[in-house]
Order: sequence, then structure tokens, then C-alpha cells
Amino acid sequence: MQTFPNPLWRRRLTTSWGAAGRLGVSPRGASVHRHYAVAVDRPAADRWLSDSERQACAALPWPERRPDWRAGRIAAKRAVARALGLDDPTRIELVPVSGGAPQLVLRGDDGSRRSAALTLSVSHRSGRAAAAATSDPGGLGIDLELADQVQAAHAGYYLSVAEQQLARRYSLTDLWTLKEAAWKALRCDDALPFTALELRGDALGRIRAVRLWGAVRPARATVLRPWPGYVLALVWVPETKA
Ligand SMILES: CC(C)(COP(=O)(O)OP(=O)(O)OC[C@H]1O[C@@H](n2cnc3c(N)ncnc32)[C@H](O)[C@@H]1OP(=O)(O)O)[C@@H](O)C(=O)NCCC(=O)NCCS
Repeated sequence: MQTFPNPLWRRRLTTSWGAAGRLGVSPRGASVHRHYAVAVDRPAADRWLSDSERQACAALPWPERRPDWRAGRIAAKRAVARALGLDDPTRIELVPVSGGAPQLVLRGDDGSRRSAALTLSVSHRSGRAAAAATSDPGGLGIDLELADQVQAAHAGYYLSVAEQQLARRYSLTDLWTLKEAAWKALRCDDALPFTALELRGDALGRIRAVRLWGAVRPARATVLRPWPGYVLALVWVPETKA
């Protein structure tokens, strides 16, 4: 299995919240968050999948989607194993959830099963996959896309006028990928119009908040290029106390 070569992704992503207060939406009490993220390239580690996961993969109606699905599960198990400090990935079971990230179940030596408080996000594209996990409370979204997929003529369909200003810092595909990651972080569904979700940048164009309908929440975002021709975005929206 090939993992993403950037050592940051093998260890942990640490997001500093030092500047969040300037947005006027400071996540009270939050200072540092640790996210574990992994990217994999056409992994062959089938032993990482449980019997039920193999069955779920084989039952997918589109055969061409199976390698992506399997890659996503393996990336997710690697991220979960790192976040929880587990050395045996076969103890991790990922139960499919329609319209959401898989639910995490941990198996004990005695065959017992328990859930774990972990936020997980998965993305797969063309045999490659990425996943991120954190035990910090909040929303985490990851998205992997092929670069240069978005044409300038389409920007107006999915970006607000304010978001189009972010194109000074990010490519249009970066912004699409970031918005998909934010979509997952906020657990949105397909029915949500593009305009209901907005990425918000600071004066330098760095993403510092997301707006969902009328609610603005602080956020952090990272864009990376795990392989040539791929864009990977990670969006973190910490839980805010009322
Ligand atoms: C849900 C959506 C974000 C998935 O993105 P995608 O690029 O098609 O597929 P990805 O491989 O990146 O992600 C799929 C994974 O996301 C997860 N997922 C699916 N729906 C989700 C949701 N509503 N929230 C969080 N995670 C979700 C699942 O784990 C899924 O993988 P799995 O089925 O193997 O478990 C996308 O299909 C979608 O419907 N978006 C809504 C509108 C939109 O297009 N927005 C664009 C930005 S404005």
C-alpha cells in the first residue's frame, strides 16, 4: 500500500485556533485540535476488511465503484487506527450509513462490539482514497477530486459572489473540493441548495468560517495535492458551546 508521502498526514494535523477570535465567532475553550488523515493509492490489503464489509463491497450495484469503496474503507481504518492508537485494523468495523460517513464499531477480543466517539470522513476517486478521523467534538469533512475538473463558466453555479473572491487564493477545483468537504463536515444532504452553504475567508483569503443558512461557525481548511492531478481538501468545524 502506498500512503501519502507528506509526513504531516502520517502523524497528525494540528490546527491552531489562535486567530479565531478575530472572526467574532471564537470556539470557546478550543485551542488545538488533532486530526489524523491518511491517503491510499489502490490498496490491496483485503485482510483489513471484515466479512460483512467484503459482502457490502461485492453487493455494490456498480462494479467499477468497488475498488474506490474498498480504498475508502482501508483509508478510513488507517485513520481510525491512528486516532485511537489501535494496532489491529481488523478490530475496526465500518458500518455503511446511507447519505453519511460510515458508523464506527470496535470489536473486542471476546467478540463484543461497541461504538467509539470519533468523527470520521471518507472520500474516494479513481482507485485512490483519503479519510480523516478525530476524537475532538466537531464536524470533519474530507474530499478528494481530480484537478482541473471545474470550468470557469460553472463557478457561478456553486460559488457565491463572496466565495468567488477566494479564487485569488484557490483554484476553482480547490474551491469545489473545499465546499464538498465542508458539506460533509456539516453533514448536509443532497437537497441543500449550493447557496445555503458558504465558505468564508479572512483578509488573506484563508478559510476561517462556514455559513450554513444563517448560522456562521468558525472553521479551518487545508488543501493538499497528494498525487499529481489530485486535490485533497479537509475542513474542520469545531463544536461551539452555546
Ligand atoms: C455527498 C457528496 C459530498 C459525496 O461526494 P463525492 O465526491 O460524490 O464522493 P466522495 O467519494 O468524496 O464521498 C463519498 C463518501 O462520503 C460520505 N458521505 C456521503 N454522504 C455524506 C454526507 N451527506 N455527509 C457526510 N459524508 C457523506 C460517505 O462515507 C461516502 O463514502 P461511502 O459511501 O464509501 O461510505 C456529494 O455526492 C454530494 O451529494 N454533494 C452534495 C451537493 C454538492 O454537490 N455540493 C458540491 C459543493 S457545493
